[in-house]
Amino acid sequence: MIRLSNKKILLCITGGIAAYKTPELTRIFKKNGADVRIIMTESSKEFVAPLSLQAVSGNQIHYSLIDEEAELGMGHIELAKWADVILIAPCTAESISRLSQGRANDLMSAVILASDADLFIAPAMNVKMWGDKVTQKNVKTLKIKNVNFIGPDSGDQACGDVGEGRMSEPQDIAFAIAKSFSSSYLNGMRILITAGPTKEAIDPVRYLTNNSSGKMGYALAESAFLAGAQVDLVSGPVSINAYEGVNLHKINSADEMLEKIKTLINGIDIFIGCAAVADFKPTNYIDSKIKKTDENNMSINLTKNPDILKYASENMKDKIVIGFSAETDNIIENARLKLSKKDLDMIICNDVSDSSIGFDSDNNEVHIITKDYEKKLHKKSKIRIAKEILKNIEPLIN
Ligand SMILES: Cc1cc2nc3c(=O)[nH]c(=O)nc-3n(C[C@H](O)[C@H](O)[C@H](O)COP(=O)(O)O)c2cc1C
Repeated sequence: MIRLSNKKILLCITGGIAAYKTPELTRIFKKNGADVRIIMTESSKEFVAPLSLQAVSGNQIHYSLIDEEAELGMGHIELAKWADVILIAPCTAESISRLSQGRANDLMSAVILASDADLFIAPAMNVKMWGDKVTQKNVKTLKIKNVNFIGPDSGDQACGDVGEGRMSEPQDIAFAIAKSFSSSYLNGMRILITAGPTKEAIDPVRYLTNNSSGKMGYALAESAFLAGAQVDLVSGPVSINAYEGVNLHKINSADEMLEKIKTLINGIDIFIGCAAVADFKPTNYIDSKIKKTDENNMSINLTKNPDILKYASENMKDKIVIGFSAETDNIIENARLKLSKKDLDMIICNDVSDSSIGFDSDNNEVHIITKDYEKKLHKKSKIRIAKEILKNIEPLIN
């Protein structure tokens, strides 16, 4: 089964016969929930109609590097940041050569050079072209740069030759891309993640809450599950779905979140507190709807909510406890303070005053801070941020 929901795939098509298979490849990605954007090289337009690809992907095709209009819309740097994964299929000998030299003379190569998304290449060429010493040297150069190769397959070729060089079948390519989102380095680990806002009731119809969308916590839960962990996700009210396989526990208030965590904490190896837990709740819950009066003012007394992160840290002494810190100013200093005050192993902090990242955005930009180091993860999708955060947790696991 292929699962690609909400994955952002940048498909680059180059000028080979196998380009005729790319509408089918795009259809498979879309059917499995991915969002697909396409870059076509100049010569690829001779092999497959851009209009077909536009129709199947549901997005405008990107062609040119030097294009004022395109740069005003989704420019090459934005495309580079947008992608969770970049796939070149089919990839010609010429494009492999250009990429191995680190060129940036067309949209595809410039985007690839500017992106830190995982790159996959599905080569497609004549058997002699593939076996050529220079092509093989170029492939080796790219493999040293951690570029992943899918295929090529062996068999009958369009030119009549037989041998290695055929592009892998679209279904196999899609499978390899889906597999790239999973790994096994968290096999056997139990991870407890909190996500979303909490909702603190004032009366039966009113409550205090915040803008957290839950996207970052849900992305962490998905990535941890795909890395082999058993994941419990305790979530406040949000409008997104948890990844199939993640154990979702829905709660409303901070008190309910704490109670749920108490029932789950035994045997947990890693706790990640990503929820935006309300600091305060109304002191007295009013059973029936508060009536409007002639008064111009009213006040609500607030009481401090339980400190869930502190609870986790105090009750998981020899385990890993990670917190999030959403700040609008003095971001790093405040996060460092929280790290030491709550005795955390790591804190992830972001600037929620920037609306292009943080709370409701699909993107995030964070600082990872531990007692020993500090690292910035530049703006990218929350799924990619989640994967990188987990990779940074890996060295903390004994
Ligand atoms: C009919 C035809 C078929 C071709 N098929 C391939 C192919 O399958 N693989 C390949 O590497 N080049 C193939 N080429 C050559 C490429 O189109 C050519 O090297 C081109 O410059 C590639 O540019 P691009 O990689 O920027 O798209 C073919 C050329 C023609 C005329």
